Amino acid sequence: MGNHFDQIANVYDRIWHFSNNYKKWMLTHILEFLKFDVYDNFVDIGGGTGAYTKSICDKAHLVNFPYCVEPSLEMSNVAKINKDIKIFNEDANCFSKRALRYDKVLLKEVVHHIKNRDDLWFDLYDRLNEGGKILIITRPRKIKMPLFDAAKKVFFQNQPPYELFIDELEAVGFKVDVKFDSYFFDLSLETWSSMIRKRFMSNLGKFSCEEIEEGIEEIKSNIKSNVINIEDDIIFITASK
Ligand SMILES: C[S@@+](CC[C@H](N)C(=O)[O-])C[C@H]1O[C@@H](n2cnc3c(N)ncnc32)[C@H](O)[C@@H]1O
Repeated sequence: MGNHFDQIANVYDRIWHFSNNYKKWMLTHILEFLKFDVYDNFVDIGGGTGAYTKSICDKAHLVNFPYCVEPSLEMSNVAKINKDIKIFNEDANCFSKRALRYDKVLLKEVVHHIKNRDDLWFDLYDRLNEGGKILIITRPRKIKMPLFDAAKKVFFQNQPPYELFIDELEAVGFKVDVKFDSYFFDLSLETWSSMIRKRFMSNLGKFSCEEIEEGIEEIKSNIKSNVINIEDDIIFITASK
């Protein structure tokens, strides 16, 4: 199987959107933690289709074009449609070697994909201007989203404990702050099943179509109506230089 994100790029914004209120809630937190100045140089690492990159730039009234760092060619091709974003079609470690300066860096739902984090934190500390910040948005290993058991196990295995990121960031000199918040919402069983079939999470990528259908049956057997209650527990880690 090729790059998971190449395969879902054309439907990514639709299947990961959840709701307008979810996006608003998330953006409010990002703005609160990254404390933007309009002249900040902003980098969105693992920025995907650039949907959040663009919304953040608009909400914070950023004067400079934001950078979106995205190794999947298909995802970055979607992001490229927006001419106000500068795309780097490469991974985080490659980007951090570039002799660029910036003020604010976002890593939203990507930190578990990065192979060489120690190098990345070291480089980012060096490249950030004084007072610069990194915001990591991630989830706990024990995910409460209503996935089937085998998918929850794979998620647990692929998700490093968040305490590890704190230790690594402090080791290179960052001052680190952690906040937890949860967003509760409902989706119809039909929408949730279709998101799972499209393998909206990369952890679902390894399951065959048969296993996915069995997983959906397992989820159905655990609910009483056609509505799925979702609790999305999010961890916000802010590292300041
Ligand atoms: C779950 S998506 C999140 C996209 C975006 N941050 C958002 O919240 O909409 C994870 C993204 O990280 C990218 N990614 C995976 N490995 C990466 C790496 N080593 N460096 C940078 N980005 C990476 C993927 O291609 C994918 O687009």
